Amino acid sequence: MRKLIIANWKLNPLTLASAQQLAASVGSSKHEVVICPPSAFLAQIKVPILGAQDCFWKLKGPFTGETSPAQLKDLGVRYCIIGHSERRALGETDDMVAAKLQALLEQGITPVLCVGFGTTVGEDKLDVTEALRPQLDSALRDTDPKKVVVAYEPVWAIGTGKPATSEHAEQIALFIKTKYGIEKVLYGGSVNGVNAQEFLSQNHIDGLLVGSNSLIPDEFNKIITS
Ligand code: PGA
Repeated sequence: MRKLIIANWKLNPLTLASAQQLAASVGSSKHEVVICPPSAFLAQIKVPILGAQDCFWKLKGPFTGETSPAQLKDLGVRYCIIGHSERRALGETDDMVAAKLQALLEQGITPVLCVGFGTTVGEDKLDVTEALRPQLDSALRDTDPKKVVVAYEPVWAIGTGKPATSEHAEQIALFIKTKYGIEKVLYGGSVNGVNAQEFLSQNHIDGLLVGSNSLIPDEFNKIITS
């Protein structure tokens, strides 16, 4: 079944030449594969589907250092990650994430809303859903949930080499779909070439958000051919 696989390169690599090399190493896939390079390289990366890692909630004006969703649209960006744990750790609030989500929808860019910041190791469903609720309630208020992709990324699984179990991720994906009417839920956190298939074979997991292993061509190509 065709799923959605998103590569989040984060603040890597350091030169345009290596970014172009990395983009060129992405093989073909039956899945929808989206590459999110650092914003500095967005205009010069050739990939079938381009994504961004973040954006601002205003389109233009005196906002030094920010990136407008209108600029992303102009560059052909089709998906934009918002609310990543690494941004929430820098102080991004639920209100900011909600405003970004609206601004993206107005530009016709699909928001990839990350939730999972504030979860702690342990897979008690009630604890996890309590942590996710404010993040989902705030961002999805007055929004058509069918236009939003949600990525469940338990913060303890990000970049640690310790993924959640596929059973846990499946349970939480089902909760997000049932409670919020979301149609596409991704799992992210220590996805690699070995465990990708297990996540992708779950009924309610519609794809993956991949960090570290999207920087390793062999590993990423294994993931997208899973
Ligand atoms: P990871 O990161 O794959 O390195 O765990 C995932 C993410 O932060 O989106």
